[in-house]
Amino acid sequence: MKRLTLAIAALLACCGAHAATTVTDTDGHVVTLEAGHASLQKWRLPAAPPFPEDNEPTAVRVELGKKLFFDPRLSGDGNMSCASCHNPLLGWSDGLPTGKGVKSMVLDRASPTVINTGYNNIQMWDGRKKSLEDQAMGPMEASVEMNMDTQKLFKWLNGHDGYRAEFQRAYPGKPIDADTVSKAIASFERTVVSNSAPFDQWVAGKKDAMSAEQVKGFALFIDPAKANCSACHSGPNFTDNGFHNLGLASFGKENPDMGRYAQRPIASLKGAFKTPTVREAANTAPYFHDGSAKTLEELVEFYSKGGLVKTNLSKSVKELKLTKEEVGQLVAFMNALSSPPQAFVLPLLPR
Ligand code: HEC
Ligand code: HEC
Repeated sequence: MKRLTLAIAALLACCGAHAATTVTDTDGHVVTLEAGHASLQKWRLPAAPPFPEDNEPTAVRVELGKKLFFDPRLSGDGNMSCASCHNPLLGWSDGLPTGKGVKSMVLDRASPTVINTGYNNIQMWDGRKKSLEDQAMGPMEASVEMNMDTQKLFKWLNGHDGYRAEFQRAYPGKPIDADTVSKAIASFERTVVSNSAPFDQWVAGKKDAMSAEQVKGFALFIDPAKANCSACHSGPNFTDNGFHNLGLASFGKENPDMGRYAQRPIASLKGAFKTPTVREAANTAPYFHDGSAKTLEELVEFYSKGGLVKTNLSKSVKELKLTKEEVGQLVAFMNALSSPPQAFVLPLLPR
């Protein structure tokens, strides 16, 4: 009887509810796979992204920026807003392989999500913009995107009673120009945040927030000997803010998109693109800068092969030979980084 009790105790100690497995992650940090464990706290995102000293995201600035973001009158044809390509119902992207601009012209690259861009210190697939403020006027000016004469735009905003009053409240004493328009839009974008997905709840200590399959997927994701995803998708926003060539099929085409290399002509950066966040990935299909992966399964299968075009492949991309089960676990983990569908209230535009 005594021996049996001991055997049961031993069994419980090894495999019971308190059994915690550990993984040494890509940073050499020992991670205990147990909800709320101290070793998981490195994945906690700050509640709000940082902001520049001269653009604190006050409520009036955020409200104004939200209106500008959704206002099609900021485009030359009067029919396209930032939200046309960064739509809250499509994961703040557009559901298309690559964006569609003025007169439905097909763009060269996919529209990235705006979610959590406030946490990143570099913007665009090739990193050509540093901050959200730097980025905001670009799409209005681009002839293939919103195709707007911005001098006309500032004049129109100045002559508009509703907008003029809001700009005065948001940026007292400042003119309505590229500076204040970008600041307002950037302030709004800093509120487009994902930081309480099931994974975050699990990190905070809620045991049943992730399924056993999702926890296994997380372990694979951070394990350099397994899927090695966190070699690049690192830190609480799941990006290193770096650039890598993954060996996408499109890099094998004639005159391929050179990505970061056009900004910094270093050979290793040929065909290298910015690491996007993996947060909300379940809501932002299709994937990659060329939209070449339709689903998360397809994306993980691609990684498992270790890239298709190997001429300038990142050293961190290797053939993974993942089993079907492991592919499913990685996808399940990315689902845990994604929030269930949420209603979004559109702003009333000043008339
Ligand atoms: C016609 C579609 C389209 C419109 C309209 C558009 N964008 Fe984009 N957006 C894109 C594409 C495509 C990219 C990536 C381009 C690249 O990297 O070369 C992008 C990139 C971005 C990024 C960088 C995200 C990242 O992770 O690097 C931000 C931020 C952004 N857009 C905000 C805006 C704002 C603000 C507006 C309105 C003023 C806007 N966009 C209008 C398609 C669009
Ligand atoms: C070598 C660095 C690196 C590794 C390793 C890596 N990624 Fe990526 N990931 C990137 C880059 C860079 C992109 C964008 C590439 C492009 O579009 O050209 C990307 C794109 C993605 C996207 C698409 C996001 C979007 O919005 O289009 C997802 C999802 C993703 N990776 C998941 C994973 C998973 C899962 C793993 C592990 C199996 C992984 N990544 C391993 C660097 C990496």
